[in-house]
Amino acid sequence: MTETAPLRARAEIDLAALRANVRSLRAHAPDAAFMAVVKADAYGHGMVPCARAAVEAGATWVGTATPEEALALRAAGIGGRVMCWLWTPGGPWREGVDADLDMSVSGMWALREVVAAAREAGRTARIQLKADTGLGRNGCMPADWPELVSQARQAEAEGLVRVTGIWSHFACADEPGHPSIAAQLVLFREMIAAAEERGIRPEVRHIANSPGTLTLPETHFDLVRPGIAMYGISPVPQVGTPEDFGLRPVMTLSASLALVKHAPGGHGVSYGHQYVTPGETTLGLVPVGYGDGIPRHASGTGPVLVGGKLRKVAGRVAMDQFVVDLGGDEPAVGSEAVLFGPGDRGEPTAEDWAQAAGTIAYEIVTRIGSRVPRVHVNERPGE
Ligand SMILES: Cc1ncc(COP(=O)(O)O)c(C=O)c1O
Repeated sequence: MTETAPLRARAEIDLAALRANVRSLRAHAPDAAFMAVVKADAYGHGMVPCARAAVEAGATWVGTATPEEALALRAAGIGGRVMCWLWTPGGPWREGVDADLDMSVSGMWALREVVAAAREAGRTARIQLKADTGLGRNGCMPADWPELVSQARQAEAEGLVRVTGIWSHFACADEPGHPSIAAQLVLFREMIAAAEERGIRPEVRHIANSPGTLTLPETHFDLVRPGIAMYGISPVPQVGTPEDFGLRPVMTLSASLALVKHAPGGHGVSYGHQYVTPGETTLGLVPVGYGDGIPRHASGTGPVLVGGKLRKVAGRVAMDQFVVDLGGDEPAVGSEAVLFGPGDRGEPTAEDWAQAAGTIAYEIVTRIGSRVPRVHVNERPGE
């Protein structure tokens, strides 16, 4: 394809598409600030280049799960607001204070640790209080909220923290009409009111992920926090394609055929011989496997574009490679095999792979391993 063709495999990351997706998402929530979620190496797309591109397209906040991810963004020169939410006891609170992170607090242990770090640093820590409004994962339960809020307010009065946000996360925003959505919103409003009654004045209140941003305007509050949609994947494939939402997939995963050979009928292919050639044919070797994040569950089902035609994984996906039955065609060794991309060259999409493997497209892109180089294209705005 391009100058990158000699690589065994590559994940091309189109930053122009990412910037356009951010603009499109911002148009869905014009009155809300935008937090670009770049955790897990930007869902496999490369954290720092994606964060930069999102900021160029108007994101004023960047969000990660772990403090290490947030600190890595700062080390790479990402300014502005950076928030992280998955803390464990003994975490790098002091580094977080020094780096001006917005640090999520879900319980009293975390408040105590961040207050101690602020005291030691001699500066105010920015914290955001997370409410469990019904996800049942991280976040403070409603019964424990009054104490957390009161103690945070006390620390604020002492100049040790500033509560910059109150926030929560949905359980079922990707299932339109699910009763938990409305129930979570009611509780979120109640928990905000309870905090405000105790004197907390958050800069931002937020709960909307990608499905909320795209399909539930009543969830936008002061800030939206999309991840998957920024990478051009529909968070609600049963409702609309990326194109329906004005999005374009950002990652194209391809590999160079490592071997093309003739095989007779009745030839077993790959471990376990789960595929046996139905007649004389040609086989192509695609040099990526589950060691690169290709799901083994897509054995026999994963779609691949080779030589202008859609093929399927023949037999098992192995650690480093899998085979496709080329049906007698003889593309040259080194020809491109496209596993997924935007879909407009006839290639499959990450959503097609998700269906083939019985998972979600989030997992397909995020699990692509570090052995596959990310090739970022259209790095500069205007390209
Ligand atoms: C707390 C939080 N906010 C926002 C997101 C972004 O979600 P999505 O990728 O569905 O937009 C995630 C991702 O799971 C998350 O954990």
